[in-house]
Amino acid sequence: MTAASTRMPSRPQAVWSAGRADLDGLPDAWGVNIAYEAVDRHVKHGHGDRVALRCLRADDLVRDVTYADLSRASNRFANALRRLGVGPGDRVFLLLGRVPELYVAVLGSLKAKAVVAPLFSAFGPGPVTQRLRLGDGRVLVTSADLYRRKVATSRGDLPALRHVLLVDGPAGDSAGRGDSGDLADAGVAALPAVLAAERDEFEIPPTDPEDMALLHFTSGTTGTPKGAVHVHEAVVAHQATARAVLDLRPGDIYWCTADPGWVTGTSYGIVAPLCVGATVIVDEREFDVGRWYATLAAHRVNVWYTAPTAIRMLMRAGAARAREHDLSALRLVASVGEPLHPEGVTWGEEAFGHRIHDTWWQTETGAIMIANVPGMDIRPGSMGKPVPGIEVAILALGEGGRAAVRHGAVTEIVEPDAVGELALRPGWPSMFRGYLHAEERYEACFAGGWYLTGDLARRDADGYLWFSGRADDVIKSAGHLIGPFEVEAALLEHPAVAEAGVFGVPDPIAGELVSARVSLRPGYEPTAALRRELIGFARKRLGAAVAPKFLDFDQQLPKTRSGKIMRRVLRARALGLPEGDVSTLDQPGGAS
Ligand code: WT7
Repeated sequence: MTAASTRMPSRPQAVWSAGRADLDGLPDAWGVNIAYEAVDRHVKHGHGDRVALRCLRADDLVRDVTYADLSRASNRFANALRRLGVGPGDRVFLLLGRVPELYVAVLGSLKAKAVVAPLFSAFGPGPVTQRLRLGDGRVLVTSADLYRRKVATSRGDLPALRHVLLVDGPAGDSAGRGDSGDLADAGVAALPAVLAAERDEFEIPPTDPEDMALLHFTSGTTGTPKGAVHVHEAVVAHQATARAVLDLRPGDIYWCTADPGWVTGTSYGIVAPLCVGATVIVDEREFDVGRWYATLAAHRVNVWYTAPTAIRMLMRAGAARAREHDLSALRLVASVGEPLHPEGVTWGEEAFGHRIHDTWWQTETGAIMIANVPGMDIRPGSMGKPVPGIEVAILALGEGGRAAVRHGAVTEIVEPDAVGELALRPGWPSMFRGYLHAEERYEACFAGGWYLTGDLARRDADGYLWFSGRADDVIKSAGHLIGPFEVEAALLEHPAVAEAGVFGVPDPIAGELVSARVSLRPGYEPTAALRRELIGFARKRLGAAVAPKFLDFDQQLPKTRSGKIMRRVLRARALGLPEGDVSTLDQPGGAS
């Protein structure tokens, strides 16, 4: 039986008012500012000496930053922005590895009411400059090397970009020089020198909870990346879920392995744990089995938030590797970003004595929406249940594979175990408030009073939710959301390429890998050398994390009558599936 969904939003405000009560608000009822909740209030309450960031540097040194240090450094950053004439609403982009300056810049920008837009430092110059342009980036905080490799040559296309602050000082001889040839002309300055000139004190101006705070780019099936707008009020959801889902407590040692260039690394790598008053592990280096276990043990990590790709890599190394280390401080291990296969959940028990708690959310939701909360009876392979305050529906599908919308209404599936589009009732504090400069794309996310997630899922008779794939063509590779359109557009820039179709193919470790089919222009031969050249061409523009891993030629790409390339048919062909069977249900962990 199905029921038409015409219910009015039933907003479970009680949960969020409890979350709000857990926060301070700015002094003198000046509103809510994320940076104040994350840092300054702890200092005010006498916890300035507590370690906020434990930075594990690439050179093996460990550097602790206390809450008081972080408060002062972010004040200096906020003062510097003010001096540069950067004010409320202006976008400050970050293109950095996991270094303390990144945290200082995020929090300092929020204090100054500028808008923080994190970029993934493994992106190539294409995605970096495109996002800077789409987001009207006015300030860029980066390193000399990243600036030189990813931004400098496109400075002419970024008229809004006025200031580039380099964390490692002046860019040396030719490094960092744009076409103008002169660093100062290009607005490039050394961040340490800029900060040294500023005062330690900064008064956060009145901040309306609805003021824009963060801009997170995400990818869809078509068109340019979308800048999801988040506001200061979101901190209510971060604080509430940090406690209710991650069981974070003041003084905990906490490690979120997600890169702060993505939403998890910001919401749960910076904001949530600092709000709670935890110590955040900031690991500059990349994944390494032995070092990761050694880190968990040496720093006595209590709560660990990681991702299925990492868990699969650890699994491959064997549970014995984990048991060589004293992981007795661990209280909770949670995962997010892609399907966590049932074996991963139970392997956690074998390796470190804890089942892994899967959680689900998206760039747009800003915070965890579905989770296996502490103490819950975990069903391996299930994402868990909606967190308190969140209402979920499974909506009947239409022909395009998304929720069917008729006369503005959708149909909720109430019987258990049927797959439909996962939808959420809008109204939680960290809900995105729009896509920047893309009102229509925002409106298209809603129907019948629901926010449509683009994910397919089912709900069992006991209310557990099970992920079964994406309703659209976006690709999840190693937890990173990749828009096929962005990859196709990069391939099309090569003179040999006439058309391109990009899709994900299953991979036992990364979940999916990016794969491409291209047709060639007259005069080009489908050779192995050209294949290598095209992959290299895409890597240079997009970065290795986004570029296709596989590429093949096909002069007859399958198209709809209107001429759109059918990515799902390409995918079925690549996998040797019958072309009618274009489901996404065969990813690792996808319910089948
Ligand atoms: C998409 C959102 C999670 C925040 C950071 C990534 C997929 C997320 C799960 C999960 C299966 C998951 C969904 C979702 N996803 N969590 N537990 N099980 N799939 O945010 O880059 O916007 O990606 O990640 O497809 O829509 P994002």
